[in-house]
Amino acid sequence: MGDTLPVLVLAPMRGITTMHYRRAFVRHFQGLDVEMAPFIPTVSADKINPKLLKDVLPENNSGLPLIPQLIGNNADDFVHMAMALHDLGYDEVNWNLGCPHKPIRKKKRGSGLLPYPDTVDAILNQICVQSPCRISVKVRLGVSNASELMKLIPVLNRYPLSEVIVHSRTAVQMYDGTVDLDAFEAAFQILERPVCYNGDINDLAFFQSLEKRFPTIRRFMLGRGLLANPFLCEEIKNTIAQKNHIERIAAFHADVLASYESVLHGDNPVLGKMKEFWTYQSTHLSNGAQLFKKLKKAQRLPAYKDIVAEFLSEAEWSA
Ligand SMILES: Cc1cc2nc3c(=O)[nH]c(=O)nc-3n(C[C@H](O)[C@H](O)[C@H](O)COP(=O)(O)O)c2cc1C
Repeated sequence: MGDTLPVLVLAPMRGITTMHYRRAFVRHFQGLDVEMAPFIPTVSADKINPKLLKDVLPENNSGLPLIPQLIGNNADDFVHMAMALHDLGYDEVNWNLGCPHKPIRKKKRGSGLLPYPDTVDAILNQICVQSPCRISVKVRLGVSNASELMKLIPVLNRYPLSEVIVHSRTAVQMYDGTVDLDAFEAAFQILERPVCYNGDINDLAFFQSLEKRFPTIRRFMLGRGLLANPFLCEEIKNTIAQKNHIERIAAFHADVLASYESVLHGDNPVLGKMKEFWTYQSTHLSNGAQLFKKLKKAQRLPAYKDIVAEFLSEAEWSA
C-alpha cells in the first residue's frame, strides 16, 4: 500500500456513465474521488450549443469533481470548446486519444492519432497555449502495437499536461484480451507527466498488485470493474460501511431508473438504457446471468420492473 490514499477516477463510458448514472452512483456508493465524463466531439464554435454540453452542465453534476473529455483533431475547435467548458467553470479538459472504434480511428481521432506524433505535436502546441483549461490526455498503448505510444511519449513530455491516463491495451484489442503491464511499465518509465493507470481493475487483488508493482502511481481509473462491483472503491479504501449489498444495488438501480424515466419518453429508450446498465451490474449477482437473459426480452417497463424486483429479492452478492 502507498502512504497516501489512492485517487480513484470513474472512467468515461459513453452512453453508460451519463450524468444520470454518475449522480445516482455518488448518492449510493463511496470512495470515488473524481469522474471523467464520456467524450464530446469537438465542433466549430458556431455549433457549440447547450444540448452538446448537457451532460457536463454543472447543475447536472453529482458533486464530485468532473473532468469533461473532448474527441477531435481540429485544434481551433478544441480551443473553442475548451473555452465554453471554462465558461461553465471547468479548469481541466481531457483529450481522448484512445477511442478504438474503427470509424473514429479512420478519421484520425481517438486512438487513430497515436501513430501520428507530428499531428499530435501540432495540436498540443496550439491547444496547450490557447486553451484556458489545463489539458490531460487519455491514451492507449497504440493502434496495433505498443511502440506507437513509446514514440509519442517524447512529444507528450514536451507539454505541461496535467495527467496522462494510460489504458494498457492497443486499439485493435478493443476491450478484449488482457492488459499489457510490461508495455505500461516501459511507457511509465519514460513519461515525465503524472500518470494515471487504467485497465481491468476488476477486484481488490488486482488493484493491490498494481500498487505493489507501481508504488509511485496514486491515480487509478476504474471502468467496467467498478460498474460491475460499485463497492470496489469502498473495498480499495477499506471503508465499506454497510454490507447489505443487494439492498444497496436495488436502491441504486431505482435511482438510475427514475432518473432516466424523468427525461426519456416511452418505454423503449428507458429499457435500452437499463439493459446496458445490467450488462455490467448483473455480473456479481448469484442469479445475474438468468436475470440478464430474461430482462433482455422485456418489452414494457412494468414487466421489466417485475423481473428486476423478482430477481433482486432472490439474489446474493458474489464479488
Ligand atoms: C461502452 C464503453 C464506452 C466507453 N466510452 C469511453 C469514452 O467516452 N471515453 C474514453 O476515454 N473511454 C471510453 N471507454 C473506455 C473506458 O474509459 C476505459 O478506458 C476502458 O473500459 C478500460 O478500463 P476498464 O478495464 O476499467 O473498463 C469506454 C468503454 C466502454 C466499454
